[in-house]
Amino acid sequence: MKVSYLSLLGVLLIAAISQAKSPFIVGGQDAAIEQYPSLVQIEFYFPWLGVWDQQCGGNILTSYWLLTAAHCFNEWWYDPQNTRIRAGATYRHTDGSVHYVDFERNHPEYNKASRFDSDVSVFKLLTPLVYSPSIQPGTIVNQGFVIPDNYPVVHAGWGTLTSSGPSSHVLQDVTINTVNRAVCNSRYSNVNVVINENMICAGLLDVGGRDACQGDSGGPMYIGDVIVGIVSFGMGCADPVYPGVSAAVGSFTDWIVANAR
Ligand code: ARG
Repeated sequence: MKVSYLSLLGVLLIAAISQAKSPFIVGGQDAAIEQYPSLVQIEFYFPWLGVWDQQCGGNILTSYWLLTAAHCFNEWWYDPQNTRIRAGATYRHTDGSVHYVDFERNHPEYNKASRFDSDVSVFKLLTPLVYSPSIQPGTIVNQGFVIPDNYPVVHAGWGTLTSSGPSSHVLQDVTINTVNRAVCNSRYSNVNVVINENMICAGLLDVGGRDACQGDSGGPMYIGDVIVGIVSFGMGCADPVYPGVSAAVGSFTDWIVANAR
């Protein structure tokens, strides 16, 4: 498994690169899976509808193990036998390599200390991924990494293009900025949600218009090529008052490395 030791210097170098990348899910732009080869679609089968539907993103750690959000595997209808991933696909529900899920390990502290706390899960496939230019293992940030405030980060996924709108057929990406945790916590205190150190807030504060959204959950927050967050929740999407919230991978790297095996 690839763990990156992001130093502050490294972060500053990556900042220059991220800024140069086009500034741009809500408010994003079309992307190709080759740009994010560790990102996969997670599809769930709904027996009473007879359909498979992509509702989350996942991140490849090794040929058998992936990283996502615990809330993706916590719905009443969740069953690993009705869950599969689609790797190497730019378009939702289309082409790529489909692999069925063996079992998941949701973080034992998920949703305990506070709502959505420790929203992290690792899961194993029944058949191994075959790496290619569109299917590659990702790199997660080292344990204890703390992301600076007001720092550019990227989300990618097939989630909805507006808060209650349709999902995107083509992969989207968007660049936003991290928001200071105390500021974010005071915003979310209006709706009785606690933002703790296991969470990263990001958006365009007091502006809105860009964010992850429904269906992007479990997908990545990147600094450069390094996965620093997992899309978790938000009040609506791209709201000026309420930033989007991701699980902070740096709080869970040791747990991820110990459990994705
Ligand atoms: N919980 C949503 C999902 O299951 C993700 C919400 C992210 N929301 C946001 N505003 N960033 O797909």
